[in-house]
Amino acid sequence: MLRDYMSKLPPEVLIELGRSEIAGVGVFAVKSIRKGRKIADGLGEKDFETLVPWGKWGEFDKTTQKKIWDFWIGTPEGFVPPENMDFNKLSIEWYFNHSCDGNVGFNRKGDFVAIRNIKKGEELTYDYGLAESNPRFSTRCNCGSSKCRKIITGNDWKEQAFRKSRISYMLPRLRRIPNCVRASVGAIPVRELQF
Ligand SMILES: C[S@@+](CC[C@H](N)C(=O)[O-])C[C@H]1O[C@@H](n2cnc3c(N)ncnc32)[C@H](O)[C@@H]1O
Ligand SMILES: [Zn+2]
Repeated sequence: MLRDYMSKLPPEVLIELGRSEIAGVGVFAVKSIRKGRKIADGLGEKDFETLVPWGKWGEFDKTTQKKIWDFWIGTPEGFVPPENMDFNKLSIEWYFNHSCDGNVGFNRKGDFVAIRNIKKGEELTYDYGLAESNPRFSTRCNCGSSKCRKIITGNDWKEQAFRKSRISYMLPRLRRIPNCVRASVGAIPVRELQF
């Protein structure tokens, strides 16, 4: 029945890929999105059970390594792989660029939600520090926000000031870590990593 089908569609969220001023391709709101609205599935605890350990890194070719580094969420132990290890399975939300003042975050289930009202045509961005905990991850930021941190790292989530202002939008597993002491191993600039 058409009516059953219609009732399963998200009524408000419509997003699309477009050219971003931040970096390459980004995701844009086709219609305005209200604060609090779920935008897409994110990462649940179950997804972290499938972590690929960094020890397997050398088994991927350089191009795939670069893609993993750019798109898949890392932890100190490994990265969360795509379903069935299919690296072509990148749904639209995985093209969200980073902003140090992003308009998207995570809810308690780990889904992507709007953290403020988003206007039609606005780019959707989230702070990668809300999700990324690989201590070796680091990249220069081009978000253009007045709050820009200039360098984004996989250690940002541990910073007390970061946690204080953003804890309610962090991935649930990162909210639970009580000790905010920075890791003794510093982040390695991404250009120093061999792809
Ligand atoms: C998940 S992809 C986002 C889609 C990407 N822009 C593209 O064209 O495929 C993440 C990559 O985009 C780039 N990127 C995202 N946000 C950025 C930012 N604020 N500053 C600089 N580069 C960014 C980085 O290369 C990062 O590894
Ligand atoms: Zn920034």
